Amino acid sequence: MFIKVPKGTQDILPEDISKWYYIEDVIKEILNKYGYKEIRTPFFEYTELFVRGIGESTDIVTKEMFTFLDRKGRSLTLRPEGTAPVVRAYLENSMSRISKVIKLFYIGPMFRCEKPQAGRFRQFNQFGIEIIGTISPAADAEVIITALDVYKKLGLKNLEILINSVGCKKCRADYIQKLKKYLKNKKDSLCSECKERYIKNPLRVLDCKKGSCKKTIEEAPLITENLCQECELHFAEVKSYLNDQKIIFHENPRLVRGLDYYTKTAFEIISGELGAQNAIAGGGRYDDLVEELGGKPTPAVGFAAGTERMIIALEQQKVELPKKKGLDIFVAKINEINQNKAFRLLQKIRNTGLSADMDYSEGSLKSQMRIANKIGARYTVIVGEEELSKNMVILRNMQTKEQKEIKIDNLINELTS
Ligand code: HAM
Repeated sequence: MFIKVPKGTQDILPEDISKWYYIEDVIKEILNKYGYKEIRTPFFEYTELFVRGIGESTDIVTKEMFTFLDRKGRSLTLRPEGTAPVVRAYLENSMSRISKVIKLFYIGPMFRCEKPQAGRFRQFNQFGIEIIGTISPAADAEVIITALDVYKKLGLKNLEILINSVGCKKCRADYIQKLKKYLKNKKDSLCSECKERYIKNPLRVLDCKKGSCKKTIEEAPLITENLCQECELHFAEVKSYLNDQKIIFHENPRLVRGLDYYTKTAFEIISGELGAQNAIAGGGRYDDLVEELGGKPTPAVGFAAGTERMIIALEQQKVELPKKKGLDIFVAKINEINQNKAFRLLQKIRNTGLSADMDYSEGSLKSQMRIANKIGARYTVIVGEEELSKNMVILRNMQTKEQKEIKIDNLINELTS
């Protein structure tokens, strides 16, 4: 028995990679257009970063992290998300000195030990952005608009934007008291997880998908009706920026994200194509995180989006992504004696900048032509004994199937013109 890929992970095979290249190119193009600079942080960090950053009682920290000890007994964790690492890097590299507002983006794998199901993996890819250093509601709006621009460029439709404000430290504390008071006599109707949440993180009860909890919170006080003046104004301005850009969104006063760092704006973009795991992107403002991780009080906002979920939605909507063009040139040889000369020619072609390959399996000319077709070569250069004696090769246009003899010296000119 051969060893299989670990549960919740998957290979991205060569036949699918051009799709990933294309999608990643689009992501980078749009994020660059909006002024974000790429940052690459390590795939693992000290566990403490996520415990402090994401929140001790969150599902991610209590049950979904891949945590291990290094040889010196230090606790490390495979990154379950990108925001805490980006803030760590921002502080560690004193980025506030470069500019008051820093705009960063990242693309790469994240790791969460969740129960795998359609659209939910243990290793998955995210692309995300973080704007650190501004309280402007325009930044909140920009973050949402940037995500939508990526989806638009890829041709993804049928998306819904849900937004909420989860308030700040001040107004949320009062709201949590109100919520606890409301839930106090209704604890019996909560699921076992929400009974725990009631004690540790009552806000999360609002987000529970279980029927009995959903019913229980129907009449619960709403956070949006309990915001302080500053948070209320901020939320109104974010919405006004979105309206101004004709972005259709829905307010969901029960939207509470699974990470504790959010303040003020919280949002999710959901896709009708994804079933239970319908969140294609999520984000919001996190004005206290930089300070919680040891920096000066610094407001920030961002989002992250699941690439696999986006690909699933694109496939469901039958969006045809442009295929990567095939190889320029395939070099075929009529018999093995010509291997040396064919190889020399192959390298000469590659050195011009054209993409080129040949088959090393000693197959017949027919089988080599089959390979050339399969890899989508534009031309095949056929190297034969008789032609070589005249310093010539055969050049075959794979589309028109026309072929002609051509001097080796003229070949490169012909191919590159
Ligand atoms: P998140 O909502 O935990 O937010 O994840 C963002 C997106 O990652 C989700 O909407 C989903 O598309 C994708 N995702 C999450 N878990 C999985 C999984 N197990 N399998 C497949 N896809 C998944 C964050 O990670 C925050 N750091 C976002 C943020 C950035 N907030 C502010 N800045």
